[in-house]
Amino acid sequence: MKVEPIRSVKGMRDLLPPDTNLWQRLEAEARSVFAAYHYGEIRTPILEQTGLFARSVGADTDIVMKEMYSFQDRDEESLTLRPEATASVVRAYIEHSVYNQGGIHKLYYVGPMFRRERPQKGRYRQFYQIGAEVLGSESPLVDAEVLEMLVLFLERVGIREYQLLLNSVGCPACRAAYLEVLREALGGVKGSMCEDCRRRAETNPLRVLDCKVEADQPIIERLPKIIEHLDPECRGHFERVRSELEARRIAYQLTPRLVRGLDYYTRTTFEITSGALGAQNAVLGGGRYDGLSEMLGGPPTPGIGFSIGQDRLILAVQAAVLKSEVPLAAYIVWMGEPALSAAARLARELRAQGLSVEVDYDPMKIRKAMGLASKLGARFAVIIGEGELSKGRYQVKDMGSGQQEEVEPGAIAERIKASL
Ligand code: HAM
Repeated sequence: MKVEPIRSVKGMRDLLPPDTNLWQRLEAEARSVFAAYHYGEIRTPILEQTGLFARSVGADTDIVMKEMYSFQDRDEESLTLRPEATASVVRAYIEHSVYNQGGIHKLYYVGPMFRRERPQKGRYRQFYQIGAEVLGSESPLVDAEVLEMLVLFLERVGIREYQLLLNSVGCPACRAAYLEVLREALGGVKGSMCEDCRRRAETNPLRVLDCKVEADQPIIERLPKIIEHLDPECRGHFERVRSELEARRIAYQLTPRLVRGLDYYTRTTFEITSGALGAQNAVLGGGRYDGLSEMLGGPPTPGIGFSIGQDRLILAVQAAVLKSEVPLAAYIVWMGEPALSAAARLARELRAQGLSVEVDYDPMKIRKAMGLASKLGARFAVIIGEGELSKGRYQVKDMGSGQQEEVEPGAIAERIKASL
């Protein structure tokens, strides 16, 4: 009898060599950047009491309502595979009375998280985060330093095309006032929104702002913005964060709808997105959570942190590497046997000058050859036929502009280099 093989759980992947080499390299780079900013590593358990996340992430969030892997242990206790680690870090900070040491504490972690989401590219049920948290300071300079560190890390791993989205969600006091205004505005429009939004409008109106349902988007765009309802302290804090970022020449995009999918946030919230990722474009997310320690039974302790989605970071790094590969400078097209040796000679000369060159040695119709040149992304096509051979000048076509000129073979390298 043939035994059916057992497969891995849906949304949970095996990572094998050589892929794991890149995972290790990114982790090593993160550890080195964290060390430079004086962060120490924390390792917390993967299982926590379910109540930890219900209290911190929030009972009315998608994570807690729909995505947690929770089960009853043999002694009836409800346990959950951690969907994120900030709550665990703050729990550990309280449990070990780290605050008694005074000063600020900077901790980082690397490891798996679990959310029962619909799997797709960049979204898994077991995924990995590289995260860091700073506990014990309210200073907007800490916010700026955290973002500065992130930007340094992204540069180190070769990600240059990204956007930093920034917002402030205020403190509980100004948020309460904003929620009044928001509730009122929602009263008039919620009837035409999705079912989740209709419920959220009552239970947790802020969550309406991160609804992803297409038809709701124009309605959400017109809702009042939290940034216009910050109290003077929160406004001042946010202005300082912004001016510190500007002083560091860190570009950001003010994004009033960025309230994030977890309830513990206060004041600064941010995400970094990358166009290379498609629909799941957030490489990382984070923000301040000044009330979280108290929510978990600890002393008042401001905090801020972020988590990088390592699975997505890998995808973004791979896309960046592909993009930065040496571009093909020239594709040589030849017609007729006598042109073949001229083509091979020219390829050798151009390559000797450091240019990346491709030439096909099998005869091909010119249309097909030109099609290949453009498919390969060649900057120039050099065309050699009977006429060119007898003239002693080859056609050099700029594949971008479409312009074509006749150039002597010995001058082609210079001609191409001049426009690379
Ligand atoms: P989060 O926005 O829920 O924040 O997750 C952070 C990042 O984890 C996301 O931007 C994404 O890159 C990655 N991620 C989340 N879910 C998945 C998934 N199903 N598959 C793959 N990647 C995923 C937090 O977790 C907060 N703890 C961040 C934080 C730290 N805030 C303050 N400190």
